[in-house]
Amino acid sequence: MDIAEVVRERRSIRKFKPDPVPEGLLREILAAARWSPSWGNTQPWELYVLSGEPLDRFKTANCARLDEGSAAAPDIRMPEQWTEPLKKRYGAVGKGVLAALGIARDDTKGRTEQTRTMFRLFDAPCLIAACIDKRSSSLEYAMLDVGLITQTICLLAHDRGLGTCIMACAVFYPSALRAVLPDTEDKLLAVGIAVGYPERDAPINGFARERAPLEETVVWVK
Ligand SMILES: Cc1cc2nc3c(=O)[nH]c(=O)nc-3n(C[C@H](O)[C@H](O)[C@H](O)COP(=O)(O)O)c2cc1C
Repeated sequence: MDIAEVVRERRSIRKFKPDPVPEGLLREILAAARWSPSWGNTQPWELYVLSGEPLDRFKTANCARLDEGSAAAPDIRMPEQWTEPLKKRYGAVGKGVLAALGIARDDTKGRTEQTRTMFRLFDAPCLIAACIDKRSSSLEYAMLDVGLITQTICLLAHDRGLGTCIMACAVFYPSALRAVLPDTEDKLLAVGIAVGYPERDAPINGFARERAPLEETVVWVK
């Protein structure tokens, strides 16, 4: 696919087919994504690819924490509130998801169930957990580098017919994820990427999204 087409067509997938993702395909995608740039070519990302029973265990534990009402304890501070215009844009995603599913804003039960589905990673058969070393001298730039490879993975996956969703809620309760990962005590869990084959006809994978016009985000200095 043409690069501009891949960038434009990739979207967050929130309903996956149960079919497993072939390991060979994931290897190809990850091998290609290694060519993402990073500060001084440090490549600070450490990626864990989860599937099968360990992933099922994590989904169950992640959902259980949510059901218990456990407070989020992410390794990397998450945004708590937004200022405008970010707040409006953030709100539009939630509205888009709920509208696509036909869940009314006052349908507390429906919304809770949808949140639970999210904490089960939308039943994706694969999760890539991106970590960085706790001793990183610049957490901010290591996170930027993680963001770069994350986007590269998502674009390459889309090009190969896979769907992805970058997921903060995969690292909301890091202890639940650590329980299924080997040797992560000295690592910070940065973000997850749910990967799988998309349910193409599912409305939640097709609602319209918006991007701010260039005038809102770009200043030309001549
Ligand atoms: C760092 C990060 C964390 C995200 N976490 C979640 C998440 O926990 N749940 C979710 O449904 N989407 C999550 N998303 C997906 C965003 O909502 C999505 O990228 C955004 O709404 C733009 O839509 P698009 O990806 O379809 O273009 C996350 C995206 C990023 C970059």
